[in-house]
Amino acid sequence: MQQATAIAHPNIALVKYWGKRDMRLNLPAVGSLSITLDALCTRTQVRFDSALSADRFILDGVDEDAGRVTACLDLLRAAARIDTRARVDSSNDFPTAAGLASSASGFAALVVAADAALGLGLTPHMLSRHARRGSGSAARSIFGGFVEMARGRREDGADAVAQPLLDAGAWPLEVLIAVTEQAAKPLASSAAMAATSESAPYYAAWVRSSRPDLRAARKAVLARDFDALADVSVHSCLKMHALMMSSRPPVLYWNAATVACMRRISALREAGLPVFYTIDAGPQVKAICKSEAHDAVEHALRSIAGVVEVRSSGLGGAARVVEEGA
Ligand code: DP6
Repeated sequence: MQQATAIAHPNIALVKYWGKRDMRLNLPAVGSLSITLDALCTRTQVRFDSALSADRFILDGVDEDAGRVTACLDLLRAAARIDTRARVDSSNDFPTAAGLASSASGFAALVVAADAALGLGLTPHMLSRHARRGSGSAARSIFGGFVEMARGRREDGADAVAQPLLDAGAWPLEVLIAVTEQAAKPLASSAAMAATSESAPYYAAWVRSSRPDLRAARKAVLARDFDALADVSVHSCLKMHALMMSSRPPVLYWNAATVACMRRISALREAGLPVFYTIDAGPQVKAICKSEAHDAVEHALRSIAGVVEVRSSGLGGAARVVEEGA
């Protein structure tokens, strides 16, 4: 039996990925830039077993549809020239599918574990490419620190991969996650993306304007320019949510506490604290700050009605194997 276990951390996009240029290969319509978190973690064991007739995917103890897992594993099986099915056991130490990027860490851990189980020794570049098939944001969770994901130009997606931009230790920002809802989100991001690209009137402008955002964010990260990164990140976040709201049917992930957090964080920044927010396909708010602002931001978020939990995280490392062998 070939088996291995890997862990991966979720990441949070500062310049957002939203929209696909190819559904089948899961190629993004825009590039993106993210930070990988250290506090949250997905742990995934992959066991190839010739007794299985289909892949099995067990997430936090519950059997789930294995469709996307199989699509990802097929790429690794093809590389290994085998046909053996696998049992995948995965667990998250944070709420699943509630806008905390569980699919990102999940598919990153999956491909890293499967690669080790099969003894393939793929490069991080290839692992990122394969993880993308499971979930676009997963391509970024292969790496730690600040990560940039390319839109790519090729039709086969060979250049739609992530690469590390700056190590976590080189600019140790901190993240506070205000959880405003524990339940799973009503609409998965893939479905919401499809609705947006089909019906949002601003979609072409979103795609067109992402390139300068990416350039500005990359420059800000490399220069450790917090204000410049804050400006472009908030802009990208609000632009993505405005796009979703403009689609038919509309997609609105926020609740009252989401908006209260946004306002409070903006007020803190206006008062001089180095902090800004971002929000993904869910109601949780992520505050990104310099360490000197951490305690004040945490205190402010905890005092907001509707915030059920505040989690702190630093920037984390790459996806990695933690256990190998039969
Ligand atoms: C809002 O990576 O979950 O978090 O490729 O369809 O699996 P699929 O989408 P997914 O989308 C992430 C969207 C986002 C922004 C981001 O992470 O860049």
